[in-house]
Amino acid sequence: MTKKIAINTGGGDAPGLNAVIRAVVLAAYKRGWECYGIRDGYNGILSPHEYPDGGIMTLDRMAVRGITHLGGTILGTTNRGNPLQYPVQDENGQWTTIDRSGEIMAAFKERGFDALIAIGGDGSLTIANELSKRNGIKVIGVPKTIDNDLLHTTATFGFDTAVSFATECIDRLHSTAESHRRIIVVEVMGRYAGWIALDSGVASTADVILIPEIPYDILKVAEKIREREALGRHFSIVVVAEGAKPVGGELSIRGQSLGQAERLGGVGEKVAAALGELTGQETRSVVLGHLLRGGKPTNTDRLLSLRFGAAAVRALDEGLSGVMVALNPPRVDYVPLEQVAGAMKLVPLDCDTILTARDLGISLGD
Ligand code: F6P
Repeated sequence: MTKKIAINTGGGDAPGLNAVIRAVVLAAYKRGWECYGIRDGYNGILSPHEYPDGGIMTLDRMAVRGITHLGGTILGTTNRGNPLQYPVQDENGQWTTIDRSGEIMAAFKERGFDALIAIGGDGSLTIANELSKRNGIKVIGVPKTIDNDLLHTTATFGFDTAVSFATECIDRLHSTAESHRRIIVVEVMGRYAGWIALDSGVASTADVILIPEIPYDILKVAEKIREREALGRHFSIVVVAEGAKPVGGELSIRGQSLGQAERLGGVGEKVAAALGELTGQETRSVVLGHLLRGGKPTNTDRLLSLRFGAAAVRALDEGLSGVMVALNPPRVDYVPLEQVAGAMKLVPLDCDTILTARDLGISLGD
């Protein structure tokens, strides 16, 4: 029987989204199934009038030609408009949230969609998990995020690209920091997990790496920089995860809107200012931010994305639902969405990369 699969991409974009979409479409086509893309998360269904094509894009083989290497997502994405907690203004002008998932189910029925392949991070997979509990639709999740903070998968696509680019940037900062005898503080994304900071910091031989999992003591960081100075190393590179916080201190938050996750950022500037005062050395801070999410996926991320996309279609072929495809080397497995939704994979303090950092003399601020 011809299956009709809806695909969506939700949350922050990540390099590799287009490769997943292409793999899903080609693997489905091979089985004689049809694919449709929902625009901008679920917005294509919730606000169809905003789109000339009614918010749903037909994904045939032509539509996914030559997109494997492209960053972003041809479907568009959003980290607003969660259908389970959709922000609306009540009659008094107060903002509140309502559940609009019934509209998604109705649209699926009307269009004859049998299945949803939801490509996203924690938020999107939590939504996918809820939809998978409704009747009449099979749901498969595909783990995406540059943050690598999803449980039960060794890796998410987008992470390798983010780490590779951060590493290149930090390499470049080394030479200018050394020429000017400066401390350069580099803030990287990652939300509440330190994976990007840790992996890029170790790979680029940073002097200090501050991650959310290890609250930092700024005096210890300054001490490390003074030690380097005493050894004739007149510059230092400090990599700070956006979710890092001082011992007994708070996260640096830029803001939050209704129905959205809080926006992190600003810790790099704070660390730079404090180190400037404590060491008397000239200090600069750089925020890599969304540069880590843009651009084309690395080969590792492309391959992972293609493997995930094809595995998602195989899962449907096997009659599965309510699962996420997951990397469990050397295999791609399926894990219940229930186990992934709302959970977070933080950096274990005894993991090999942390031990390596300590053995190399990199300060973790503790
Ligand atoms: O989850 C991916 C991520 O890039 C985080 O690292 C970061 O905190 C957040 O998204 C930024 O989101 P936005 O696109 O709303 O700025």
